[in-house]
Amino acid sequence: MINLEFEKIFGASPAQISNAPGRVNLIGEHIDYNGGTVLPMALPIGLEVALAPRRDELIRIASDKFDGIEERRLGEVKTGGWADYAVGAIEFAVRAEYLQRGVDLYISSMIPDGAGLSSSAALIVAILKAARQQSERDVTDADIAVLARQVENEYIGMPCGIMDQMAVAVSQPGEAIALDTTTLDYDLVSLPDRYHFVVLHSGQHRKLSDGRYRKRTLECEEAKKAAKRDDLCLLSECEIAKLDVAQNIRKRAFHCITEHARVLAAIEALRKDDMNAFGALMNESHFSMRDYFEISTPEINVLVADAVKYGAIGARLTGGGFGGCVVCAVDAELADAWKATLLAHHPNAKFIC
Ligand code: GLA
Repeated sequence: MINLEFEKIFGASPAQISNAPGRVNLIGEHIDYNGGTVLPMALPIGLEVALAPRRDELIRIASDKFDGIEERRLGEVKTGGWADYAVGAIEFAVRAEYLQRGVDLYISSMIPDGAGLSSSAALIVAILKAARQQSERDVTDADIAVLARQVENEYIGMPCGIMDQMAVAVSQPGEAIALDTTTLDYDLVSLPDRYHFVVLHSGQHRKLSDGRYRKRTLECEEAKKAAKRDDLCLLSECEIAKLDVAQNIRKRAFHCITEHARVLAAIEALRKDDMNAFGALMNESHFSMRDYFEISTPEINVLVADAVKYGAIGARLTGGGFGGCVVCAVDAELADAWKATLLAHHPNAKFIC
């Protein structure tokens, strides 16, 4: 029980408890900062936070993943340590007047870090939701997602889009969110029970703050600048062919327009209950990430290919790329046998959920 853990560490009860799930993106990668539509899904694994306001400027943070208590003061610069995401969320909650001063905070998380499952978005959103409860302000979940993205963009310095924050702030495990990342309009789409969306960690860890994610965002910026438009995903193939840019930039733009089209087709396939079409779109999405956006790795390409070879109807790298997880759509009745065969061939891969 998180309140007992909190009490053990801080010697008093928490004032607020809140949670957020991890997310896996079913399809629509790297298009949430290019005007595209994405289709992430909340996971059954998540994290919980417990928080108590303080009367001074101190922020004390403890977590079930790290020993000791991290202590910072409001307004202090970030250190590059594990607690930065939590401190950033508190700083922005104070700026938004959800909180007045410092807090004691305890974090209990089941979401693996560096796996592409949005552990950081879940942490920031859960803290902001706890802070919102504390203030009783009239703030929507979408407002929380927007503020959470600001924490990543402005405090952490990670130039991410809005997908993860929206996915973990508004959707529930078992449903996907078809999200227009320009307007933030969304539909919650239920997923068929007869298929499992299995998430496997490839065994390759990565940190999106290491610069490779940013490099892709800058490449997309170059394409947008050449096109004189921000909604890169809505360009036509013909317009991309005419852009005065280097070949690698053209490839990034090509991924964006085809990926956006695949997401729209995937949402339609779900509505028609055509899971074979959905699976085929997942596979095409992977090929595009491999060949055009170039964010996959040789190991992940083999894992994805084997996932399909052993019976998944679709499989792809998910999240920011360069490691992390794959998501596979598998017939529920075959899922256990499929998983056993795949993991026997890929001992470094790990079943997440
Ligand atoms: C990370 C970012 C998201 C999104 C994905 C790639 O998860 O946080 O905004 O760009 O990568 O689709």
